[in-house]
Amino acid sequence: MVRNQIPVSKRAASIEYAIRDVVVPATKLESEGHEIIKLNIGDPIAYPGLPTPKHMVDAYVKALQTGNNGYSPSYGIPELRASIAQDERRKGWSASQDDIYVCHGVTEALQIIFAATLEEGDIVLAPGPHYPPYLAYPQMFGAETLEYKLRPDNAWALDFDDIEAKMSDDVKLLVLINPNNPCGAVAGKDDIFRLLAIARKWPNCIVIADEIYDGLDFTGEHTSVASLSPDVPVFVLNGVSKVFYAPGWRIGYLGIHDPKRRLDLVRDGIERLLRSRLCASTPAQLGYLAGLDSDRTWMNSYAKKIARQRDLCVDRIKSIEGLEVQSTGGAFYMFIKLTDEKWFNNDKEFVLQLLHEEHVLVVHGSGFSPELGAGHFRLVYLADLDILNEVFDRIDRFLTKHRQ
Ligand SMILES: Cc1ncc(COP(=O)(O)O)c(C=O)c1O
Repeated sequence: MVRNQIPVSKRAASIEYAIRDVVVPATKLESEGHEIIKLNIGDPIAYPGLPTPKHMVDAYVKALQTGNNGYSPSYGIPELRASIAQDERRKGWSASQDDIYVCHGVTEALQIIFAATLEEGDIVLAPGPHYPPYLAYPQMFGAETLEYKLRPDNAWALDFDDIEAKMSDDVKLLVLINPNNPCGAVAGKDDIFRLLAIARKWPNCIVIADEIYDGLDFTGEHTSVASLSPDVPVFVLNGVSKVFYAPGWRIGYLGIHDPKRRLDLVRDGIERLLRSRLCASTPAQLGYLAGLDSDRTWMNSYAKKIARQRDLCVDRIKSIEGLEVQSTGGAFYMFIKLTDEKWFNNDKEFVLQLLHEEHVLVVHGSGFSPELGAGHFRLVYLADLDILNEVFDRIDRFLTKHRQ
């Protein structure tokens, strides 16, 4: 019997998240007994050698055991807000505890920001290729995401002419992801000054600085956007997921840098929204606090391991016909160009065939932007060197086979 289906909302039906969507065929192959090397997801815990540090796990466990299992204040545990503010002050802007709002990850912070700032017809101007939620969520509030170009021929640098051309009074949020996902580029001080100079011309515009990968900068150029803005309001985003290696804890924060006090109404809206969703996970906040308040030299060895893996990928790609990559400055992603025309014009087919024939899972570039990401694939280089070597052997074999 065919039953009438109750309709799904257009909002939900149009959501796509390429990074997890490709997992569906991979899971099917696994259920048939195949072993898949997965380099699709930016989760350090999914790879060996990058565990959440013990002192953070211990603090989380202690919180559970000592009864810290209740709701906590909606804006975050005060000690954690204070510690994050201190950390942001070290990065160069005058954050106070009251400027920090703890969320269930940067992902929830984004939803709160969009809900608090966007009306029908508004525009979010975000980098393309982009991290998918920047495109998926604004439309839920009747707004639209426009992409500004990252330059594929120039280490994915920001295309300022394109940003300038796309700015208007409708652009409420101008996004910088730094270091960038999916391209791994790092914007330095000069880039940030230029971005702020553009934003400054548009009084309704707030800059979103997604700095969740700031501890994985291999260029030494990374600078906090808020620290360079004496006037333009900035939402600072960061958290425990990437550089504290605990993405499953779902803890991040939104910092509000508002030197000219133009966000009082928006801040009130953000606080209302935060109160209405109660609070972020209490024990996970205490785990994060332990990470912030303890010695962080352990991070250096993690970053070194990741940098070695990056170097290996760059070397291997150089010697494989059919692949090209721009130098990558940070995070743990590579956005690799498929130079064979057949695959350049169909990156999703490349990903699916590679998965079926060689059991390697990466994400098609067009999943990060049909226009600006096409012809590429994103590889997460968190796996160990021997796994990465094996992956490039398989990709090489695959490309060679399909060239004949
Ligand atoms: C640029 C960027 N922002 C935010 C997130 C998600 O952050 P969270 O785990 O804090 O929600 C990711 C995860 O991959 C990301 O790449």
